[in-house]
Amino acid sequence: MKTLIAPSILSADFTRLGDEIRAVETAGADWIHVDVMDGRFVPNISYGPIIVEAARKCTTLPLDVHLMIVEPDSMIPAFVKAGASWISVHAEACPHLHRSLQLIRSLGAKAGVALNPGTPPDVLDYVIDDVDFILVMTVNPGFGGQQFIPQCLDKIARIRERIVRSGRTIHLQVDGGINQKTIRQVTMAGADILVAGSAVFGTGDYGRTIQQLRNVAQQ
Ligand code: DX5
Ligand code: ZN
Repeated sequence: MKTLIAPSILSADFTRLGDEIRAVETAGADWIHVDVMDGRFVPNISYGPIIVEAARKCTTLPLDVHLMIVEPDSMIPAFVKAGASWISVHAEACPHLHRSLQLIRSLGAKAGVALNPGTPPDVLDYVIDDVDFILVMTVNPGFGGQQFIPQCLDKIARIRERIVRSGRTIHLQVDGGINQKTIRQVTMAGADILVAGSAVFGTGDYGRTIQQLRNVAQQ
């Protein structure tokens, strides 16, 4: 599977969001990662469908919306309408995980399950046929710029094995603390979509950074 780089706009300059999105697209980004936080599931509040709608007007890249919110079902239609093409919900936030995933797919988007660092991979066992991607958090969600948690590497490897056994094409995304130092470990463990916020937007030359990340990831 091709390695995809998905810059998270959480670390972008919001006074110039359109320019920032266009800049990472020009710089070679594959997806745009949009972190939605509600102040309940995670201890921070970010943005909702209107930012997805604005982003949709600035880029043709897939918009990958990471919902760090409780009871996501009520908001999923608004995110699809706004232009989200890939949507992940947290297993910890969904009492009816299967229903949430089916809802995303029924609206024509690709469905993903996100797992916090402390959540075991077993929750995937009975929904593996209902996902297009799995998101392994390698920091506790809520903020950009945190340190990668290495204990998650074993979980990435176990999930990749599980995907291979399923015989399906399911992407394995990793999010949190991804930079030139950590990216190779996660691709070695089996990840193919790498979210990077501060590692991209914290640098001066997005093109050079994305190219470096891609090179190290595929070494
Ligand atoms: C964390 C978010 C991440 C975050 C990553 O809650 O889900 O997507 O933006 O930021 P970095 O790459 O700086 O760890
Ligand atoms: Zn994220």
